[in-house]
Amino acid sequence: MNGQPAAEAVTVEELGLVYGAGATAVQALTGVALTVRRGEMLALMGPSGSGKTTLLMVMGCLLRPTAGRVRILGRDIGGLDQAAMAAMRLAHVGFVFQSYNLFPALTAVETIRLALELKGWSSATAGEEAVRLLAEVGLADKQHSIPAQLSGGQKQRVAIARALAGAPELILGDEPTAALDWQTGQGIILLLRGLARQDRCAVVVVTHDPRVAELADRIVTIDDGRICNPERMPHAAS
Ligand SMILES: Nc1ncnc2c1ncn2[C@@H]1O[C@H](COP(=O)(O)OP(=O)(O)OP(=O)(O)O)[C@@H](O)[C@H]1O
Ligand SMILES: [Mg+2]
Repeated sequence: MNGQPAAEAVTVEELGLVYGAGATAVQALTGVALTVRRGEMLALMGPSGSGKTTLLMVMGCLLRPTAGRVRILGRDIGGLDQAAMAAMRLAHVGFVFQSYNLFPALTAVETIRLALELKGWSSATAGEEAVRLLAEVGLADKQHSIPAQLSGGQKQRVAIARALAGAPELILGDEPTAALDWQTGQGIILLLRGLARQDRCAVVVVTHDPRVAELADRIVTIDDGRICNPERMPHAAS
């Protein structure tokens, strides 16, 4: 650390999200305030239906909030249209899901190459970068395997390499270890934490597992759409 506060990857303020309207409206988030900086890993916990996935989707520019503000790298996304939100997402956010979401017919290297090509890389440079990213997540020897030939932990490493494609500043994981045994899941979380610690990105992982949450730098708990442990402000007290 150089003494400078780390750059914020994402900040939400007074965030509210209502699904639907009228009698069937669901208030999924209320007054949520949170900042996640590059270099840190945050664990998001809370009961089923408390709003964790919704918050992740708002932070990742997949859902527009119905109240409050979202800033990605200091830029308010409030005024952006759908296309600009998608561009923001493509450039700055990587997602990892519980169910991996890999194309069954693509090999690991093809998966990462495609992700890079969708971000505008030429196929030659994308191919080289894909190999590099797979080596970084410990899959150098599985480049040409399709998902059916990989274990759960290996599939999640492919998904992480895909999330890292193009070096996004924010990685969002929605229960990325829920389908894995504890030891494999721990490896996945330590991989993500290592990436954050290299100051490459901010990482937010949703988890129900307190052992996973304890590996994070910070734990935020959400209940019924509200944060229950207000964020500690690292710059306020020193
Ligand atoms: N598309 C939707 N339309 C209407 N309501 C929704 C929609 N998605 C989620 N909800 C509601 O919003 C609330 C928050 O849901 P969310 O999926 O964010 O919870 P979660 O904390 O991720 O739960 P889980 O731990 O089960 O994944 C819940 O009451 C849910 O029923
Ligand atoms: Mg969820």
